[in-house]
Amino acid sequence: MNMIVAADRNWGIGRNNGLLADLPTDMKYFREHTQGKIVVMGRKTLESLPGGKGLPKRTNIVLSANPDFEAEGCIIVHSEYELFDELAKYDPDNIFLIGGASIYNRFYKYCRRLFITKMDADLNADAFIVNIDEDEDYRLISESEPVTENGITFRFLVYARNFEGMIRARTLNF
Ligand SMILES: NC(=O)c1ccc[n+]([C@@H]2O[C@H](COP(=O)([O-])OP(=O)(O)OC[C@H]3O[C@@H](n4cnc5c(N)ncnc54)[C@H](OP(=O)(O)O)[C@@H]3O)[C@@H](O)[C@H]2O)c1
Repeated sequence: MNMIVAADRNWGIGRNNGLLADLPTDMKYFREHTQGKIVVMGRKTLESLPGGKGLPKRTNIVLSANPDFEAEGCIIVHSEYELFDELAKYDPDNIFLIGGASIYNRFYKYCRRLFITKMDADLNADAFIVNIDEDEDYRLISESEPVTENGITFRFLVYARNFEGMIRARTLNF
């Protein structure tokens, strides 16, 4: 499984249930990585998408504890158990966690690769992910040249689970 996220320098990822910045090159990067794949998100992130609908050209899996929740074009799962039952149907390399904070923080440890668009700015977030640089199970394996858009400079970083992380991840059973 993989995770894809845009974070500011404080690991902030959102404000008022929306994104922190409008970065067309990052949106393109997100599309290129996720189209044709399986995306996993929380109910609040789904509701922040255009029309509150699943993303086109992707299999959308949405977590909500509400048994009555439905959304067009989405598979709804109601617990971690149901989520893993559903995810077992797919190739883990094709699965991407796409937010929000509750999903990233709970499940990133299940990911082999973390695609992080790191914005060199403090964007006054109210939703955060953990500081991946402080997680000894992951190491930075690539970093793009900086890109500047709408006054924000950002880089595309890729982290991979290291050997110790892989050993620990085996106890996660996925
Ligand atoms: N920067 C980025 O790349 C990026 C990407 C995506 C989102 N975001 C941002 O992240 C923020 C939203 O994050 P968030 O943490 O508030 O919301 P979220 O993770 O999108 O959704 C939270 C909801 O997911 C459901 N959920 C989570 N864990 C569950 C579990 N174990 N079992 C059943 N349901 C579960 C619950 O829905 P119910 O309440 O229906 O039970 C919960 O209220 C927004 O600001 C958004 O813009 C940023």
